[in-house]
Amino acid sequence: MRRRVLVVDDEKGIREALKQLLEYEEIEVQTCASGGEALQVYPQFRPHLVFLDVKMQGRDGIATLRELRQLDPHAQVVMISGHGSIQTAVEATQLGAYDFLEKPLDTDRVLLTLRNALHHVELASENLRLRDEVQTRHEIVGSSKPIKHVFERLEKVAPTAARVLITGENGTGKELVARAIHALSPRAGRAFVEVNCAAIPAELIESELFGHVKGSFTGAVSDHAGKFESADGGTLFLDEIGDMSLAAQAKVLRALEDGVVSRVGSEQTLAVDVRVIAATNKDLAVEIAAGRFREDLLYRLNVVPIEVPPLRARRGDIPQLVEHFSRQMTAQAGLQPKQFDDEALTRLAAHDWPGNIRELRNAVERLLILAPGATVGAADVERLAGVREGEQGTASVGPNAPWMRAGTFEEFKQAAERSFLQAKLREHDWNVSETARTLDMPRSNLYKKIERYQLAREAS
Ligand SMILES: Nc1ncnc2c1ncn2[C@@H]1O[C@H](COP(=O)(O)OP(=O)(O)OP(=O)(O)O)[C@@H](O)[C@H]1O
Ligand SMILES: [Mg+2]
Repeated sequence: MRRRVLVVDDEKGIREALKQLLEYEEIEVQTCASGGEALQVYPQFRPHLVFLDVKMQGRDGIATLRELRQLDPHAQVVMISGHGSIQTAVEATQLGAYDFLEKPLDTDRVLLTLRNALHHVELASENLRLRDEVQTRHEIVGSSKPIKHVFERLEKVAPTAARVLITGENGTGKELVARAIHALSPRAGRAFVEVNCAAIPAELIESELFGHVKGSFTGAVSDHAGKFESADGGTLFLDEIGDMSLAAQAKVLRALEDGVVSRVGSEQTLAVDVRVIAATNKDLAVEIAAGRFREDLLYRLNVVPIEVPPLRARRGDIPQLVEHFSRQMTAQAGLQPKQFDDEALTRLAAHDWPGNIRELRNAVERLLILAPGATVGAADVERLAGVREGEQGTASVGPNAPWMRAGTFEEFKQAAERSFLQAKLREHDWNVSETARTLDMPRSNLYKKIERYQLAREAS
């Protein structure tokens, strides 16, 4: 089926350039010069995707986005932001825009966004048929507040050239975040090169990163380009940077400071344009104190920090993740689909998951393979995934917490939120302003929730 895309921009040049580019991709295109016109055209044209300019005369992009979403709650919109309206474009993603592009438009970036968004449309329409729509953004599943903070941060930093240091426990999804940053960056069409610093022996890491010339050491039988060179124009992901030797750290520092590298055994320097994203599960402050990590390198790498929260800090995402992994495994690994009943889900959500999402993923796989029936129940979870009853992470997640008894996923989320807010308010002795501040939530919003959930100070 031919895809339809609506382009809305008051600049004729942009409309025409996008139309030409998209038509070349065999997409049916209509263009509109204003938000008002777009709202008229939309219902007849029924586009799969809308490119929408943020700044327009009259009804601006944000207002148009709001109305479009009212016309069609599933409207897929990519915002186009000019100089100085990035902030607005980022805010638009919170109003449901799928992504945003920056002017001047870069052909590769437009096409990548188009592909991702159309792929997203396909997934979205597929998901509509499923009971609870799994929230996924940049392949990262989750809609909890902590993971949303990660989305916001990564979407803000991706279009820039800033270095990013991703921290988080094992299996929290650090690599996924690194890949998402690359995919959303202007470098998306270029290489994403990954180096696992922990997996490479100390004596080989320099040649791995910077390359070597023939004969520079035993075994160097030919010239070899390093990862910095391979990543030229793209992104270099230095995974497990906390495990890199001090000697290699010194060389990386020099490469970052001067933007040049030289192959082992060669005097020649080579200029490289590489965006570096690093990740570690170690506490680098501790490593620095112990003399194992260079402080100056930390400052070079850690321009924008992103901390990926452990799974136990975002338990609300667990049912979605279970659904996501079981769908993925039944589609890819050919396992028989199984339903997870509510008790199984609440049991899984109460577990502390020291190995985080990777551990959860393995547990889901094990359950799909080993659980005898078509439905996975609490007993299976206990027996096959080693999750015991009565396990609790924090006070509000015990087996008796109200959300453990929720019947549907929606109830579950609401009950979980209710317990969470109640606990937070208690913590701050029912000072609403202070609680709202620590939750980074407008006070009015918290008042609304207090009313909605009928939260009340319990008698002590
Ligand atoms: N939010 C998520 N949604 C879907 N899949 C996820 C999510 N987070 C992690 N995963 C999956 O979990 C696994 C572990 O993620 P990843 O490798 O990115 O973690 P990591 O933090 O780099 O782990 P490590 O520290 O062990 O290297 C991968 O299979 C990844 O696809
Ligand atoms: Mg990793």
